[in-house]
Amino acid sequence: MSDSGVVAAMVGRARELVAIDRALHAAAAGHGGLLLVSGEAGIGKSRLLAECARRARGMGMAVLSGRAVPHTGPFRAVAEALVPVAPPALAADPRLLVYRSALGQLLPGWPVDAVADRRLVDPVVLLGEAVLELLGVVATPVGAVVILDDLHWADPDTTALLGYLGGRLAAARVLLLGAARDEVGGTRVADLRGHGNARILPLPRLTAAEIATLARERRVGLSADAVDAIVRACDGLPLLAEELAEAMEGAADETGVAVTASPTLAELTRQRLDTLPAAAREVLNLAAVLGDLDWQVLAAVGSWDEHELAPALRAAVNAALLVSDPAAAGGLRWRHALTRDAVLTQLLPPEQAALAHRAAAALDRGAVDIDRLPEAAELYAQCGRITDAAALLLRAARAAADAGALGTAEETLRRALRLSSAVDHALVVELVRVLGTTGRIDEASALGATILGVVDGERRVNLCLHLARTAVAAERWGEAGRFLNPVAGLGDPRVDALRAHVALGQQPTRCRPGHRAGSRCRRGRRTRRPTGSRVRGPGDRRSRLAARRPGRLR
Ligand SMILES: Nc1ncnc2c1ncn2[C@@H]1O[C@H](COP(=O)(O)OP(=O)(O)O)[C@@H](O)[C@H]1O
Ligand SMILES: [Mg+2]
Repeated sequence: MSDSGVVAAMVGRARELVAIDRALHAAAAGHGGLLLVSGEAGIGKSRLLAECARRARGMGMAVLSGRAVPHTGPFRAVAEALVPVAPPALAADPRLLVYRSALGQLLPGWPVDAVADRRLVDPVVLLGEAVLELLGVVATPVGAVVILDDLHWADPDTTALLGYLGGRLAAARVLLLGAARDEVGGTRVADLRGHGNARILPLPRLTAAEIATLARERRVGLSADAVDAIVRACDGLPLLAEELAEAMEGAADETGVAVTASPTLAELTRQRLDTLPAAAREVLNLAAVLGDLDWQVLAAVGSWDEHELAPALRAAVNAALLVSDPAAAGGLRWRHALTRDAVLTQLLPPEQAALAHRAAAALDRGAVDIDRLPEAAELYAQCGRITDAAALLLRAARAAADAGALGTAEETLRRALRLSSAVDHALVVELVRVLGTTGRIDEASALGATILGVVDGERRVNLCLHLARTAVAAERWGEAGRFLNPVAGLGDPRVDALRAHVALGQQPTRCRPGHRAGSRCRRGRRTRRPTGSRVRGPGDRRSRLAARRPGRLR
């Protein structure tokens, strides 16, 4: 099904379908890959993905589908695709045993029993291999296709994962098919597009003849003049062609709607909104700001009961602003993402701010689900509650970092820092921790140094510990010692333990614990270590990894 929920005959796209058929057959023969459909909103990306899903099912392949949405937790699209085929019971499959903890990052109910292990290698590699193994398990003998829509909204960890998988699918029976707008998504989608392993399928606008066919199919009995008017007005964009064809329904002069100064989608949407009763418009306005059509969420946020909500939503479906979709949360979705945008643009800024405040406060009151923290934060930002927004983004970033989604954690923190006019020290301390964990030592040190002189108390201790641990991970013992100096003598056991660790690290290499060389060394140094000390030797790999593990020190 497309964004609009309309499952109508496919028009044109012969060249693209040949490329997709080829990619499907190659995957079925064990030569998978990553294919990215790209193009502007309303051009037909989702429609093409739906056609691909239909063809893959026809070939007997397993079809897994997910979509990215703005302002959610990491890996949303991939998780949505995998969850239906990977119930917790599958974690017991012997082929997945070593990966089940990594998969626990994505799949609710899966055990996360060896969190430390995923730090032993690059988290992207571990998760990529885990997903690859899982896909091998759930694929049919003909293979699997993973269809991920709206990747322009994907988080950086998802795009890193897809980039990695793209390089590993050449010998797998798996086709990864994504779609992304080319006008949004910024450098991240550009990165994915520019990834050596991704093949790009750009979607051009439809030809006049194709638009004419589409318009006639959507509205049987259109006059030749009306079809011409639609062809001229929509300029090859199928979404606009459909909207125009529908807008002509019941119009006295059916060409009139299309001819009036090239109507935009926003204008057509506004016309539909105007036909709704006030109560339905109110519901849609809140839904547009909230970005959610789950009626239970809407009922809670808007303080409506189902007797008020149901007729309002029915009216919006009848006006083709919403469509019924059993796959969506609550069974409804916007006709197209641009329909929601159009509803938003007809609200005045103070109206939007008031609705955003109402929505954010309701979400926040209800102990926001971790995945919805960024969404609630954005709503606070929209109504100018920057401190509340930053606090939620900090929680979201910590949750992402603890789940190993370090790219998302960094991006979330930078977003929060951009929002705040004054430097928020809690955000900086957390960003130092994240940068240190990703091994960007110089960046972490430079950033930490900017606030070291102005923070105090627990925050100062945490900052020094993050900086020192980052330096320890790089075996820069002198630097680590200097970072700990300002908080030495406070009696904090974490500081004392790390100072002992650093002191050991500063000893000559051959004399460090774990070094198996000469007996002189063992005799000479070991006796100097305080009895009962459980500090691991700095040459010990586990020690270095433990020092880099996030979530331990805040
Ligand atoms: N080739 C096509 N044939 C028939 N309908 C199409 C075609 N391309 C797009 N559409 C219709 O146009 C509308 C917008 O397409 P959609 O796939 O949702 O766009 P996108 O995902 O690129 O934003 C949908 O209702 C879709 O069914
Ligand atoms: Mg789409």
